[in-house]
Amino acid sequence: LLQSNYKVVVLDNLVNSSESSIRRVEEISGRRIEFFKGDIRDYNFLDGVFSSQKFDAVLHFAGLKAVGEAINEPIKYYENNVLGSIQLFKVMQKYNTKSIIFSSSATVYGNSNNSPLKEDMPTGIPTNPYGRSKLVIENILADLYVSDPQWCITSLRYFNPVGAHKSGLIGEDPRGLPNNLLPFISQTAVGIHEKMFVFGNDYDTPDGTGIRDYIHVMDLASGHIRALEKYISKGGVHTINLGTGIGHSVLEVIHAFETVSAKTIPYDIIDRRPGDVGVCYADPSKANLELDWVANRGLIEMCKDTWRWQSQKLLL
Ligand code: WQD
Repeated sequence: LLQSNYKVVVLDNLVNSSESSIRRVEEISGRRIEFFKGDIRDYNFLDGVFSSQKFDAVLHFAGLKAVGEAINEPIKYYENNVLGSIQLFKVMQKYNTKSIIFSSSATVYGNSNNSPLKEDMPTGIPTNPYGRSKLVIENILADLYVSDPQWCITSLRYFNPVGAHKSGLIGEDPRGLPNNLLPFISQTAVGIHEKMFVFGNDYDTPDGTGIRDYIHVMDLASGHIRALEKYISKGGVHTINLGTGIGHSVLEVIHAFETVSAKTIPYDIIDRRPGDVGVCYADPSKANLELDWVANRGLIEMCKDTWRWQSQKLLL
């Protein structure tokens, strides 16, 4: 956004991030960021920010996103993701800021749809409270538009975001034990973990392990710019997949990372993880056509950029 000359204001409660990463974004872009530390569940905090200046649009990324944690702590997920979003939408309405890009997820398709997944497929029953919270928020936004067509709503359904900025200065930095595959692999590669675990090799896939549509976070970022430029002044509700349309198995990702890092990634194959689906990848044609956008970074580049970030992170 900064490199596209937008003025950017960041709100974050830093529950799973750090203010230093914002400073590094300023270093990369050579632009300033106004940062407010606070929680979207806190209406008064949001009101204070929105009364300070007029916003053209909101990109709403604020959400908890660990599938396993969501299964163990559903109230925490519904309170943070759903109630937090409701507070945000109330304040946006009050200050007449009605353009929003919402960070949704492929998990809203549930496991009753077969890949490649298309936006006009009926959303399934998400297999966990994280996915269900994302689907509830999509529906709240759709209802908001019906009540007031001045809203411009874009829900971007992320597949599996991975990778890091080329500079190696910013990347995925989950607090505690990672839930997702790539950070676990990269932490194993630098020796933080002795080995990793592959959750099941009895899926109906070529090597038996789960297949996902991994998308480089920089492709994801450019998809947001395209969506903002395309829809910010238009009304309506737009739902768009952000994926590559290419699926890779867990073992393919491990082997790609070993190639890139020249490290051996020790792993044990254990039982399936509750809530997982076997195969999930996008049909990205709507984004390709409507946003004139293609995710063009491949698995090797995703692993290279992750490895550079993980290796340099130890020095930051
Ligand atoms: C990927 C594959 C696992 C860890 C979730 C959310 C989704 C999105 C990304 C936010 C699966 C396997 C994983 C490990 C493993 N969230 N795996 N060992 O579950 O596809 O998607 O994160 O953007 O909305 O639902 O991602 O990285 O956890 O798993 O074998 O230690 O790797 O079984 O096949 P997932 P993931």
